[in-house]
Amino acid sequence: MGFGFGLVILALAQGALASGISDDLRRLERCHGLFVGERISKQSPLYVAVISGAMSGTDACMNLLDQARIGQDGRIPHVNGAPELTGHKILSNLVQFHRSQLESPDFNAASGGVRTREMDLFDANEPAFHFVYSLLKSGEPYSNVVTRPFGIRAIRYTARTTPRTRRVVDSGAILYSQGPGPTPAAWNPTLIDTGRIAGLVPDSVQNPVQILETSQAQYQGRNTNAHFGGGFLGSQAYLLATWNGSNFRVWAKDLLADALCKDIPVLRSLDVLQAVKPESTFAWRQGISCMQCHETMDPVSAAMRTQGLIRASPVNEARFWVSRPIDRPSAPYPSMSPDPDYSRRPPDYYLKYRSFDGTLVNLEGTGVASLGQALASRDDLYVCAAKRYFQFLTGIEADIRDDSDPLNPLDLSPSEKKYRQRVIDLGKQLKQDQSARELLKRIISSPTFIYPDRGV
Ligand code: HEC
Repeated sequence: MGFGFGLVILALAQGALASGISDDLRRLERCHGLFVGERISKQSPLYVAVISGAMSGTDACMNLLDQARIGQDGRIPHVNGAPELTGHKILSNLVQFHRSQLESPDFNAASGGVRTREMDLFDANEPAFHFVYSLLKSGEPYSNVVTRPFGIRAIRYTARTTPRTRRVVDSGAILYSQGPGPTPAAWNPTLIDTGRIAGLVPDSVQNPVQILETSQAQYQGRNTNAHFGGGFLGSQAYLLATWNGSNFRVWAKDLLADALCKDIPVLRSLDVLQAVKPESTFAWRQGISCMQCHETMDPVSAAMRTQGLIRASPVNEARFWVSRPIDRPSAPYPSMSPDPDYSRRPPDYYLKYRSFDGTLVNLEGTGVASLGQALASRDDLYVCAAKRYFQFLTGIEADIRDDSDPLNPLDLSPSEKKYRQRVIDLGKQLKQDQSARELLKRIISSPTFIYPDRGV
């Protein structure tokens, strides 16, 4: 017995001497740095468990991630009513990470801090919350980032017992108002929580507006906090962040980047020849290069065409999105000249792009929920997730653009090809099992995670 024990000690010591630190410890140190943003303490139970050989590095990393797991009540694990500190740091770092991956701007920051009217009504991080919720809530499929039929709201540590009814701007608090000016009625919407993030929940807040200007009376009683389906695509925050003042082109362009990691143009010149119409009154219809972007972006934007941005009051104006009535029949997507009834027709769209493997995807449907389903039905959504998490964890950026366009060869090096293939395989596995947590585990347990510079 004593002899065997001695051998184990010797083996441990030799392992430690040979490589400095063991691969298991290297894993834990690396994932602790990435998730928590700090070096792991040598007194931490996970450190002790790994160094004593009681737990593998991969298991320790998953254990760490689970400190930010979102429970049935939407909260991460709590100690004495407050979020456990490590879990809180992981949750807020993951929100930051997903925020940083989005092409769409933060709607508060987008206008240099001028547009503060909605900042207490909608959370600019909501698009990121959809990704984090799929990662940290157990059993939540990844596809829900674009198919979830509800919004996601943050629970914050300083949740108010009495809802706030004022928004705070530079010079002090201002009451929200509803109805026509110059003396509109008070409006007391439930505002978003402020403070340390403690969890994420389905957003069930109802903020109906009761009085509107006569021209908008048909929207009285509407929930200003409505979500329109399609996960992050149909959130008030995403619509505000991508609004260009007249149409949903930026929304469409940004969602392709945010869901699929695709930057237009994502069609080949040959794909759009049929769609080019030199006699059209639309400038972009007349050129092949124009249509390489517009033939993807414009028909996707059509899925949102019935949404309208209205304001609760011209005084202390807060804006929100409503679904406008559909009172005209479907019609082919305009190709020659403007259609005056365009925004009153069913939101028929088509989604046309070249996949990473060169497949020409062409799906059609009606409305944003259907668009989300279409995005979730292809591999690109998942390969994009794999690309992001692979880069987050290993620092290696994989190229997942269309690799079989004869006119635009990618010319990847052997190692670029290898990581591209690795990310594609990981994405396909994610599509199968829908678990972003398993995707992270696969990357963490690979040699690439601890030796990214060795080309493994
Ligand atoms: C790299 C992609 C890309 C290409 C190529 C491209 N566009 Fe665009 N185009 C966009 C985007 C994105 C918008 C929306 C910008 C916004 O609203 O802020 C846009 C908007 C427009 C608009 C404004 C339409 C409106 O009603 O608001 C016109 C006009 C336009 N493009 C014409 C053209 C023409 C003409 C060409 C070819 C010479 C072209 N575009 C090529 C991406 C592209």
